[in-house]
Amino acid sequence: MSRRLEEEKVFKDPVHHSIYVQDQTIWKLINTPEFQRLRRIRQLGTTYLTFHGAEHSRFSHSLGVYEITRKIISQFERNRYLDWPQEENLVCLCAALLHDIGHGPFSHSIEQVFGNDHEKWSCDIILGDTNINRILKEVGDDFPERVAAVIRKDYDKQIVISLVSSQMDADRMDYLLRDAYFTGVHYGTFDLDRILRVLRPFQGRIVVKESGMHAVEDYLMSRYQMYWQVYFHPVTRSSEIVLRQIFRRAKELFQSGYRFAFLLPQLRQLFEGTLTVESYLAVDEAMVQTTFGQWTKERDELLADLCSRFLNRRLYKYISLDQRDDALIERLRGEWAEVGLHPEYHLEADTPVDLPYDVYKPGAEPDGAEKPPILLLDSKERLTEISVKSDIIRSITGLHRGQYYLYYPADEVSKKAPALKPETRELFGI
Ligand code: NI
Repeated sequence: MSRRLEEEKVFKDPVHHSIYVQDQTIWKLINTPEFQRLRRIRQLGTTYLTFHGAEHSRFSHSLGVYEITRKIISQFERNRYLDWPQEENLVCLCAALLHDIGHGPFSHSIEQVFGNDHEKWSCDIILGDTNINRILKEVGDDFPERVAAVIRKDYDKQIVISLVSSQMDADRMDYLLRDAYFTGVHYGTFDLDRILRVLRPFQGRIVVKESGMHAVEDYLMSRYQMYWQVYFHPVTRSSEIVLRQIFRRAKELFQSGYRFAFLLPQLRQLFEGTLTVESYLAVDEAMVQTTFGQWTKERDELLADLCSRFLNRRLYKYISLDQRDDALIERLRGEWAEVGLHPEYHLEADTPVDLPYDVYKPGAEPDGAEKPPILLLDSKERLTEISVKSDIIRSITGLHRGQYYLYYPADEVSKKAPALKPETRELFGI
């Protein structure tokens, strides 16, 4: 059983003003080393190299998702909606708080190179030999498994999953507002209070009262803006490419038997694929950046150069193409090799198409997972999918704008300019 705290705890928060903790289990979870570690992991990875304010952590985001979930549940209870299963309150709050517990430093880049999966780490941390697991077990023996099931999205009550993960879940609502606040952009905001008021549990799912349609339009427009202005920003993509290349190069060197002058045991385990939960929890951004600092002195010039680029923000420049052009990339790689540039590292094609791009789609997700559509509930208790009624949402539904970029180290390429073909020089404007 979980008990209420004698006195509620309040966190000040720039997005929600105050975050209220009333439950002992939540309070204890926040105070575990596993959760405190999220303070040392930035929410937006390398975005701070583009928007210098984006230093906010996964800790603040996780508290924010918890707070939005708490507000939604509290609204359901105040309105005495019978469709809301009250016995699920605590599992919802815990899953909201812990949904990102498995994120490591710069996790998207590390995941791409090493094939780790933060959702799997989340479940390993919740179910493994950790403080978090012990605290959840105090509620009930099967409680850790229930929280993990919500995060894995295979919990037996869909309505619980949809609070934490859906087209309009607590996770997305918090990160859109928080990322907009910390990057300093103005177009990412929407009226959260209004949205929270118009949500309703109805026949096993969460729907929106029809009067709230315009608030939802605003939310989806903000998502659209944030994707293009922040998440897909070409300079951020450039910093991710440099970061990914660092991991790729290090892995390549490790596999070829290269002896690093500096390599912490946890990173060795990452390369070997033998990371335990305990070592995974020790890897934070400070560790990764210290390593990069040491690696600027490595014998391998490519690795040293990439680390120095990342730390000192000498990122790759980019040119944009009208369309994906594999033949062009192939030709350039050949030319790079001829003039002494690295064909694999000094040219990288990038298309945001690889990313899970969906402003809103009433149907399957690009990764095949089902995300139920946003449904409007009218006064006669009829449900309608929102893009049927909203012109604005219909116009951005399923939109897929292609953008193709070629990234390259402008300084290195310019040095080779005299040896490059005239059409290549023209392409890169050198
Ligand atoms: Ni999240």
